[in-house]
Parts: sequence; C-alpha cells; structure tokens
Amino acid sequence: MEAEARIRQLREELNRHNHNYYVLNSPEISDKEFDMLMKQLEKLEDEHPEFADPLSPTRRVGSDLSKGFEHVAHERPMLSLANTYSIGEVDEWFERVRKGLGGEDFEITGEMKYDGTSISITYENGRLVRAVTRGDGLHGDDVTANVKTIRSIPLVLQPGDWPDRFEIRGEILMPWKVFEQLNKEREYNEEPLFANPRNAASGTLKTQDPREVARRNLDAIFYYLLSDDLPADNHFDNMEAARRWGFKVSGEMKILHSEEDVNEYIAYWDEARKTLPVATDGLVFKVNSLRQQLNLGFTAKSPRWAVAFKFNPENACTKLRFVSFETGRMGTVTPVANLEPVQLSGTIVKRASLHNADIMRELDIHEHDWLYVEKGGEIIPKITGVDKDRREPGAQVVQFVSHCPVCGTPLVKNEGDAAWFCPNKYGCRPQITGRIEHFCARRMMNIDGIGEETAELLYDRNLVKTPADLYDLTKEQLSILERFGDKSAERILKGLDDSRSVPFERVIYALSISNVGETTAKRLAKSVVSMDRMRSMSVEQLQSIPDVGPVVAQCIYDFLRDPVNVDTIDRLASAGIQMQVSEDSIQPAGNALEGKSIVISGTFARHSRDEYKEIIERNGGKNVGSISKKTSFVLAGENMGPAKLEKCQALGIPIIDESEFLKIISQE
Ligand code: IVH
Repeated sequence: MEAEARIRQLREELNRHNHNYYVLNSPEISDKEFDMLMKQLEKLEDEHPEFADPLSPTRRVGSDLSKGFEHVAHERPMLSLANTYSIGEVDEWFERVRKGLGGEDFEITGEMKYDGTSISITYENGRLVRAVTRGDGLHGDDVTANVKTIRSIPLVLQPGDWPDRFEIRGEILMPWKVFEQLNKEREYNEEPLFANPRNAASGTLKTQDPREVARRNLDAIFYYLLSDDLPADNHFDNMEAARRWGFKVSGEMKILHSEEDVNEYIAYWDEARKTLPVATDGLVFKVNSLRQQLNLGFTAKSPRWAVAFKFNPENACTKLRFVSFETGRMGTVTPVANLEPVQLSGTIVKRASLHNADIMRELDIHEHDWLYVEKGGEIIPKITGVDKDRREPGAQVVQFVSHCPVCGTPLVKNEGDAAWFCPNKYGCRPQITGRIEHFCARRMMNIDGIGEETAELLYDRNLVKTPADLYDLTKEQLSILERFGDKSAERILKGLDDSRSVPFERVIYALSISNVGETTAKRLAKSVVSMDRMRSMSVEQLQSIPDVGPVVAQCIYDFLRDPVNVDTIDRLASAGIQMQVSEDSIQPAGNALEGKSIVISGTFARHSRDEYKEIIERNGGKNVGSISKKTSFVLAGENMGPAKLEKCQALGIPIIDESEFLKIISQE
C-alpha cells in the first residue's frame, strides 16, 4: 500500500481505539497491539515528513476528558513513557542513556508500572488543594472531590521537610480484591462487567457522586514528585521523603547500577508481580539523578531519562470440551466454553464466558477446537482466538442454541441487542428461582435462610412461584421440608416478618425489573414516592426521572402492566410490604424555585449533582447547563471553575452555596 494511504488508515484506526479506550472505557485491542500500531505510524511519519499532520494521534498522549468536571490546565504537562517489550530494547535505552551522559556514572531506579489511572495532586502548605486527571496531557478534569474520598491519599501531610508547594503524581488503583467483589455485584445485577481494574478505577474516578467513589475503596500509589524546591537531588530520595510525608510509594523500588541489575530486576518481577495486591502491567526504569535527568531531557512525548518495560499478557492454548448454554434470572442465555483445565496467572481455568452469539460467531468455534485463553490485566479469562491448524477434520461449527436449554422455549432477541433470551418468564425454572433468590438476598429484602438452594426447593415442592407466595408460607409447610427443622423454619418466618420494614427503594430493586439495578431503584423511589404513583405514570413521565432513559422507562412500564406482576405487587402490598417512601426520607418539594433557571457547578457534600437536579425540579425550578443572562443563580459547590466564576461576575449572576440553597427550599 502507498505510504500516504497507510498513514491515513493507521491514523483512523488509532483514533478509533483511542476513543474506545479513553472515552468508552472499553478497549477492543490489547495495549501491546495499540503500541505496535502507534510505532508503525511513527515510523512512517518519520520517513515521510511531507505527510505530517498536527492532529495525528502520534502528536498527542490520549484524552480522557469527560463532560461533568471542570477542565483545568496542568502546570507541567503530563507526558507518557516510551514503551518497550523486550529486554533487548531496555538494554538499547540503557546504552542511549550512557551515551547521552557522556560516559558519566549513573544510577537507575527500578519500580512497578502500576496499571490504573494517573493523577496529579497539588499540595500547598501541607494540605491537598487540587487533584487533576491526565486528560490530554495539557488539560485534565478536576476530580478533587472524588480523590479526597480515597483513604490512602493524605489530606494533610505529616510534619516534615515538604516544600510549601508541590505536585505529586501517581496512579489511582482498584485493588484486585475490591475489583473482584465489585464485578461479582455487577454480574449479579446483570450490569456490564469492568474488563480490568484499570477500567474500573478510571470509571469510578469519573463518577459524579463522591459517595459512590468512597464506597468503591480505591487506592493510590505515587511515583513522581515535582516542585521548584525538592527535598533531594535524586528521584529515589524524593520518593522516600514523600513516603515519610504520608504517601503510599512503591515498596518495590530499588536502585540499580548496571544492565545486569536491570535484567535481574525484570526477571524477578516478571514472576513476583503476580502476588501483588494491585494490577501492574510492567516496570519503569528512571535515571536517578535529577541533574542527569535534566541533561537528558525530553522528546515531544516522553522523557529520555525513563522507559517502561511492559509485561506480556499471559496466555495459554487449551482444548474445548463443550459449549454450555446457561439461562440467567433475566432469561438471558449465555454461551460458556468448558475447557480442559489449564494453568494461567496462578489459577486454573476451566470455563470462560463466550458472552453472546455474535462473539461466538466471530470466533468461529468448532467442536473440540484448541482455544487461546488470555488473562492479562483481566481477571475474567478471555477467549482470544482459535488455533485453526489443530482443528479436527470434519469438526462442526458450534451453533448457538435456538431453544432455551432448560425449558425448551424458542429464544428471542430484541432489535439491536446482542443477547438471546428465553421469553418464558413464568415457566422457566432458573428464571423463577433466580427471582425468588434475588428478592430474598441481603441487599434486597434480606430474608435470612433463603438462598439459591432453598429457593429451588420451595419451587420444586410447589410452594413458591412468585415472591408474594413467600408471605403465605406456614411453619408446618417449612418444617417438613428436607434439611429443615423448627429452628430454620422459624428463622425464615422471622426474616419474612422483618422484611415488612424494608424501605421502598429496596422493594423496587427486589422485584427484578429488567434494567433496574440498585442505583436506578433508589432514584425511582425518590422520584415516584409510591407504587401507586409509579403505576399511573406514562413512559414519558418515567423518562423524565434522572437516570431513566427510554429503554429503562419502557421496561418499568411493561413490568407494571404484566398481570402476573400486578397480582404479585397487590399481594405484597396486602402482606404489609412498604409500597411508598417513609415520611422522613421524602425530600422537600414545593414551588420555591418556580420560574427560576439554575446552573449547577462544582461538587457537593450534602447531595450529589443528580440529586440537586432532582430537588430543583421538585421545587418548580429548571436546571440548565450553561450560564447566560437568563440564569437566576448558580448553585455552587466546591471547585467551581474559574471560567464560570468570571462569567457570573461579568453578568452579575448571584452565586449560592449548598446550605443557602437548602435554606431557600425548606422555607416554603
Ligand atoms: S513516571 C514523565 N512511574 O504510566 C514520566 N509512570 O506511560 C511520568 N505509570 O501516565 C511517569 N506506573 O500513568 C511513572 N512507576 C511509574 C508508573 C507510571 C504507572 C503510568 C502513568 C503514566 C504512564 C506512562
């Protein structure tokens, strides 16, 4: 292909992958494949300067800017590191440093390359003042309110020799344990899973609700200190100083003196990193002396004094035993590859989800195929391809099932959806027992003693078909079941009794309305106030609730019109289950804000931005996006952006803080 055409193609491809990675949080290719494409483009652009373009993906470091946060400029640009994938390339870098320093002695620091999302935090007089994401390297998102919720980040430093003003950079991480727990919850809620801890960390940091961020237990490790007034003349001692001031600093950091030391460090950590509590995707080597760093300087994109060595994702090839099809609580049928057990990243892999029919077809899986399984930064093993050379002659393509593997009903699919599902909601065992189990679970009605097995037993004995049947159970019925005695029967009856005081928002969540998870259920409860009101609402009215889009609104509407659900809800109400929000949780409503246009800016302590939006609407006001002459006032939280502030002053628009605002609406 002609150079010009290939350059154009590579730029388009890289732009698309950048968007997938930074904006959608859902990469399609591995970092390694991405870097390979980038290298090809850099090479071609070097050879053909006549096709240079200031907007080429090689000229930027990627952007993760998103809407809701203030965009602020970095005082010092946040550059990336040059990546290498072989020890040979690291040795070449070492040689370049040696030459660059004119034969002078030098030390290298070795440290982990943490696989999270980078952050720059500024401290003044020992206090945290601002935290900004990397963004496009020059400007980032001000995420101070969210970062302050991360407990391992000091808000006020330990007494010490810290400069009056400095910036510290590091990585926000979601530890493996937290990540696995979060994905478990999301899987249970049939919400999309995070592919790896990196996506989970960056997704969490961009959440508009600092309380949700706090709940997710993020962590942070720091690796770079910047100031006009640093405590030491070398990187290692500066990081040790930061550690003393209260920061979490890589415990694996080591001073290395030779190429051999560097190679040994790589050989050791290639294996040992698997035991670390957080994800790493490589190692970083830096010239230790700051004077020597200054001498070596930077290229347009990265420092010459540092290099990253990236680990290869672990993969294996194993034989497919069979593909099973599993029906979930919502009826979704998922294909699962059952594999000959294979060792990967310290665990034995026997099963890997094939997600849906489209993904299965793309992989073109035949019976007994040899499949490549990968587990890079990802905890869920992923089938990345098929070794076609090892395919058995005459092997048949594995077809997606056309009928439910449990109840035999023909499967259906919604337009535009990838998933096939079994429509036999009230006759398909795993769907029925799944809903009962969900209803009783801890975060829903919290009925102790009814888990998966008991839900199945109650259904198989013809005692319970819908959650409403639970409240008709008697001690006699329960105590004669196998493995049951008086004690366990009493425990269940007490759990059922206690569940009568479970708040309305959890009742909504417990009902298994498709696309209504915990957060949506909370929003719904607050907005609709009662089941009767929710039942009377049109799709359009439902859609005006924050967080409820057209699809979710339709799901709720249909659910509430299904005769089985109507009967279940009526019977639950008669059994004494909460069908409206309790008096004291109802937020003030009135007409105090009638006719007012209000802009929300910054982050808040008492309610989330979404909640304020809702409060404004419930009080007759209108929430608008940008400041104009027509704006009545700005509801300002912490970190309102300087541009907005200036605009308010220029137009003479009042700025009202959180507590003033709450006073205004409670007076009515
Ligand atoms: S140093 C100017 N050290 O890797 C060099 N970066 O590709 C500043 N990273 O954006 C970066 N661990 O998010 C450095 N020990 C470490 C690191 C590290 C992870 C990330 C960081 C940076 C990216 C560079």
